[in-house]
Order: sequence, then C-alpha cells, then structure tokens
Amino acid sequence: MKRIVVTGGAGLIGSALITQLLEKDHNVICIDNFLTGSREALTPFMTHANFSLIEHDVTMPLPKIDGHIDWIFHLASPASPNHNSPISYHSLPMETMMVNTKGTHQLLDLALQHNARFIFASTSEVYGDPLEHPQKESYNGNVSTTGPRSIYDEAKRFGETLTAYYARDKHLDGRIVRIFNTYGPGMRKDDQRMLVNFVTQALENKDITIYGDGTQTRSLGYVKDTARGIIMYMEKDNLAGEIINIGSQVEHTVLEYAHMVIKLTGSKSNIVHLHDVTDDPQRRQPDISKAKLLLNWQPTTSLEQGMKEMIAYYQNTQK
Ligand SMILES: NC(=O)c1ccc[n+]([C@@H]2O[C@H](COP(=O)([O-])OP(=O)(O)OC[C@H]3O[C@@H](n4cnc5c(N)ncnc54)[C@H](O)[C@@H]3O)[C@@H](O)[C@H]2O)c1
Repeated sequence: MKRIVVTGGAGLIGSALITQLLEKDHNVICIDNFLTGSREALTPFMTHANFSLIEHDVTMPLPKIDGHIDWIFHLASPASPNHNSPISYHSLPMETMMVNTKGTHQLLDLALQHNARFIFASTSEVYGDPLEHPQKESYNGNVSTTGPRSIYDEAKRFGETLTAYYARDKHLDGRIVRIFNTYGPGMRKDDQRMLVNFVTQALENKDITIYGDGTQTRSLGYVKDTARGIIMYMEKDNLAGEIINIGSQVEHTVLEYAHMVIKLTGSKSNIVHLHDVTDDPQRRQPDISKAKLLLNWQPTTSLEQGMKEMIAYYQNTQK
C-alpha cells in the first residue's frame, strides 16, 4: 500500500485516478480547493477508510502532512479552454498560472522532503498549434508566449521546466505526463469542454454549438484509460525525468463528434456554427509509442463505449 497525495482530486481526471488508486488498496490524501472541481466527485470516497480530503489551495503554503508520502500526483489546475466557461483557464488566468508554477514548485519541495515520486500533469497544449503530426514527446511545440492560451500553455511549460530541473539537479524522481484531450462522466456542465457541451445540448434537444466550421480535429481519450495510464507511469521504476504522452490516437473532426453524439442520443438537435476561436489548434494527435513501449499502456475503451457511458451519466444527472 502506498500513501499518495493527489492534488486536483475533485476534478474529472483526479476523481477517476482516486477511484483506481483506492481499488488498488492505496491510501489517498486529496488536496483540492474546488475551484473547478466538485464536491460530488468526492462523495463516493468520503466514507472510505483509506481516503482523506484536505480542502486547500495549493498555491498557498501547504499544510503539514504527518507521516510519509510515497507518491504525489499534481493535477490541480483549471483545464477547460472554452472562453465562455466561468471555470475555464481564460476566466481564471492568475489561478491557472500560479497553480502550475508556484503550486508545482511547492509540491516539488514536498516531494523532495518525503523522497516521494512525483508526476506533474502537463498537457498536449505545450505543443501549441503543432507543425508535426502526430506529436512525439521530443517535439518542442509551436506556442505563443503571449497569445490568449499562453496563460495555460506557458504555465504548463514552466511547470515542466521546474519538474525537469528537480529531477536533473535535485535528483527527485519527478516525471511529466502530457495528457491529451480527455472526456468522460463527471465533467461539470459549466466547464463547457466540447463533448460535455455536445452531450448536454443533445439530451435537451438544443442546438449543438460548434466553433468555426468544425473541420478542426480532436483525439479524445476516455478518462478511465487516461487515469490508468498515469498510474502505470507512477508504478514503473526508473523513469525519473521522463516525459510521456497519454491520449487517444483516434482522430475525428469536431463535426463528426457532433454527429456521433446526435446519433447515440437519438437527439433532434441541429448543429449551429459560432465564430472561430483565436488560437484554437487545428489538429492534435498524440504519438503514444513511448507509453506503449515503456508502460505497455494503450487506450482500451472505444469511442462509442466511452460516449455511451458519458451519455448515461448525464441522462441520470438530468433526471
Ligand atoms: N481533461 C483534459 O482534457 C486534460 C488535458 C490535458 C491536461 N489536463 C490536465 O490534467 C489535470 C486535471 O484536469 P481535469 O480535466 O481533471 O480538470 P478539472 O478542472 O476537472 O480538475 C482540476 C481540479 O484541480 C482543482 N484545483 C484547481 N486549482 C487548484 C488549487 N490552486 N488548489 C487546489 N486544487 C485546485 C480543481 O478544483 C479541480 O478539482 C489538469 O492539470 C489539466 O491541466 C487535462
């Protein structure tokens, strides 16, 4: 049994991660301030003997944690890119920049104090609007330091720099996971990421809103697969200082996703197009050969299966 800190555990990926860690009989301490997560996401764990919650903003001085810590997963950060969402990184710019930089710094120090293994949740956004397809971990990206998305992209890039520095110069077992678009049950509706928007709009027979002409592509990973990959990365020895992409390689246009959701929900929704979004990447697809080679990980949930589970979740929460 490992004693594990998960920051951002009340979020989409964090709560899936905690579910799987508890299933493996680990002891989990979640640190979250509910900035973009939800208390409901933690409800299933609250009575679990191996779970505890520290409600705290990790950009503030960290609370003292008694006893040893084996692993730290640092996932805390706003993640939605939708300008219209009150919990997107556009709406929470300072919070986003600080949690990925100052927060990361403090959690790296905590890891050092405990000689703990550390994973920083980075993102495919560090590749920016990529000029290489698919994106390998060795690709340095095409990112604006000052554009609208830089608050997220550059904060993540600096979080990576900090993690790499601690691994290289302070001999911490620090690792970086570059997560690509992830979806699944439990996403907050006001988060307004693409699929949660499509599913909730379709279930209410409202117009499905697409930014631009919908020919931009996305590869969507199912949250249980993403969480499983991140845990496999943590479990594996001798990967200090590594960077690994985790995501799905099944690429579809945004328009295709909208049609799939309409079909699977049997919705009467129409598709409408809204103005294009500045800096919206046109294509994103991970090269996951490193994850396959080093972790023996690959996604196992089909898009149709994942979408059906997600649709069932929102059907139940809308009742
Ligand atoms: N979901 C994706 O598609 C995706 C893709 C790439 C990277 N990521 C990264 O994975 C991580 C988790 O993403 P998610 O989709 O689960 O996001 P989410 O918004 O659902 O969860 C993030 C969690 O972090 C918490 N949090 C934010 N700031 C905090 C702070 N200062 N102190 C304590 N807790 C704080 C929030 O309350 C929330 O529970 C993030 O770091 C995100 O950047 C996600």
